[in-house]
Amino acid sequence: MLVDGPVSPVQQRNLEKEWGVKLLDRTGLILEIFADRARTREGVLQVELAALSYQRTRLVRAWTHLERQRGGLGFVGGPGETQIEADRRAIDTQVVRLRKQLDKVARTRELHREARRKVPYPVVALVGYTNAGKSTLFNLLTGAEVMAKDMLFATLDPTMRSVTLPGGLQVILSDTVGFISDLPTQLVAAFRATLEEVLEADLILHVRDIAHPETEAQAQDVESILADLGVRQQVPRIDVWNKIDLLPADDAHHTIAARRDGVVAVSALTGQGIDTLIDAVGTALGESRSVETVEIGHEQGRARAWAYAEGIVEAEDVTEDGARLTLSWSPRQRRRFESLLIGPD
Ligand code: GTP
Repeated sequence: MLVDGPVSPVQQRNLEKEWGVKLLDRTGLILEIFADRARTREGVLQVELAALSYQRTRLVRAWTHLERQRGGLGFVGGPGETQIEADRRAIDTQVVRLRKQLDKVARTRELHREARRKVPYPVVALVGYTNAGKSTLFNLLTGAEVMAKDMLFATLDPTMRSVTLPGGLQVILSDTVGFISDLPTQLVAAFRATLEEVLEADLILHVRDIAHPETEAQAQDVESILADLGVRQQVPRIDVWNKIDLLPADDAHHTIAARRDGVVAVSALTGQGIDTLIDAVGTALGESRSVETVEIGHEQGRARAWAYAEGIVEAEDVTEDGARLTLSWSPRQRRRFESLLIGPD
């Protein structure tokens, strides 16, 4: 039995007795799904952490309930409280242990990301409401076997693949966990941990289930979550209106998509519109490149070497203090270059 909303432990117990079924509230269900789907070490740890803090709150409330049932023994520190305190302490110890592990995992991941930055391909991130069709599109574009089932949250942890799109453009495609509205606060960290890749993207594909009755509300949820995450407005976006095969041929969405800039209508299932999408990706990535001239001193050897390895140097002139470089780069490459410059101190 599922309840879309929070259920107190007291309500849960009464309803379970009354109906003779196991009852899950919204947080409980999402936790079960997260636990089932978590694939990376960090995802698993975040889910465990969320589950523990969820248990901890229910522990306290359950105990209050018991005490009330007993009619109040009238003294503090009775056997009930000791047991609860012990349980709570055990959970707290476990939480500390998990946080330590998470720190370690986050550090390792930073190293991985560092290694990936060296790959001179733009990063394209697929985001979207849960069940919008991200994994299906990802599979179509990469030919990869990522779970695509009629199931919420088929992707909890980002999956990244380097792919050569038809036409020769090489990109790193990143699939992300599906967004959902009213995410219980205990789950926000677990969710965010899976989305850091989006912050690094050169291009965001917002995949929408355009045949869903609540497609507008879902799109707004996704946009506000992206804003909360701090995704910069400058990162180019393409709105991918997916599942167009489910709409009648005379549906207005077809016409709107065909006319509006930054919108491509596709079906990840039938492949309809995918060529247009691939073209749009190429154009968006091309447009986001700019050519700039920067002067650097002799001490900036590391940044200069990186620029050459990245293949973004168009020209170089020697100057008195070092070099003048003409660079053709994406916003991501620009950020990377700047982070390699040695400051005045
Ligand atoms: P989460 O992992 O929950 O975020 O879902 P997702 O966005 O990755 O969705 P997924 O690719 O798993 O697709 C969800 C369901 O929609 C699956 O049953 C797909 O077969 C179906 N689907 C995806 N794209 C299309 C499409 O273009 N047309 C139709 N008819 N169904 C589609």
